[in-house]
Amino acid sequence: MQGIGAGISTVLARHGAHVVLTDISDKVAETAGRINEDGGSASSKIIDVTNPDQVTEAFKEISEEHGRVDILVNNAGIYPRKKLVEMDESYMQLMFNINIFGTFRCSKAVLPSMMERKYGKIINMSSVTGPMVGAPVGGQTAYGATKAAVIGFTKALALETAQYGINVNTILPGYIHSPSAFGLRGSEDDGDAEKAMREFGYKIPMGRQGSPQDIGNLVLFLASDESSYLTGSEIVIDGGNILQEEYSGPYRPK
Ligand SMILES: NC(=O)c1ccc[n+]([C@@H]2O[C@H](COP(=O)([O-])OP(=O)(O)OC[C@H]3O[C@@H](n4cnc5c(N)ncnc54)[C@H](O)[C@@H]3O)[C@@H](O)[C@H]2O)c1
Repeated sequence: MQGIGAGISTVLARHGAHVVLTDISDKVAETAGRINEDGGSASSKIIDVTNPDQVTEAFKEISEEHGRVDILVNNAGIYPRKKLVEMDESYMQLMFNINIFGTFRCSKAVLPSMMERKYGKIINMSSVTGPMVGAPVGGQTAYGATKAAVIGFTKALALETAQYGINVNTILPGYIHSPSAFGLRGSEDDGDAEKAMREFGYKIPMGRQGSPQDIGNLVLFLASDESSYLTGSEIVIDGGNILQEEYSGPYRPK
């Protein structure tokens, strides 16, 4: 696991949670290893969220190993770009299968026990892209549709579970500095993706792209009892980017 998921896990572990990192990629074990080396408590499991049986089985094992799941963060998601006229149905279906059905499957796997215990925090990863904004170059109809769907899913589930003491909220990140976004922002032509990403950050009022830890800090709040009266909320975290009616950057720290 890399990117935002790694940032979230690191922050939660630093604040005392045992985190079970799940991902289709075996990099997840390395990330869990790093958290343990830094004094946190983490384990990992390979899950493909498009496989319903695998998801059910994995959460059963996690609950048996750790007694319960208090916090679920539905973060797995893909964001390739393809214009509508070039897209076939299988592409659209794959985007939904990961970005929204994945969220459905994982939530369904943890909910019965959360409802029984009258406690649980579900945090879903949407995006400003789709529900609020889009790239002028296009290619985001599939992604945008899935991320808007995450918001509807969150609100409906929040209502369905409020009386069980379960909080369901969604985060709408703007531009976050993660390896999967390299090349989408700024050019990699000069071979320095990090530099391109940094310079792209000057387009954002706060003068930088967000970090995975920024998202982790918001997840920490939503996973804590300090946010216990918050449910069905959609929180934008984007360094002020979508507040701009017109761009007047580059924005350098004063
Ligand atoms: N980076 C951004 O700027 C940004 C902005 C808004 C929203 N988001 C959302 O945040 C989330 C994380 O994005 P990221 O930038 O860290 O990307 P990322 O590619 O680093 O992380 C996504 C993770 O999902 C995993 N994954 C993909 N398919 C899977 C599957 N079938 N089963 C299980 N895991 C699977 C990938 O292996 C990867 O580790 C995504 O949902 C993305 O849409 C990202």
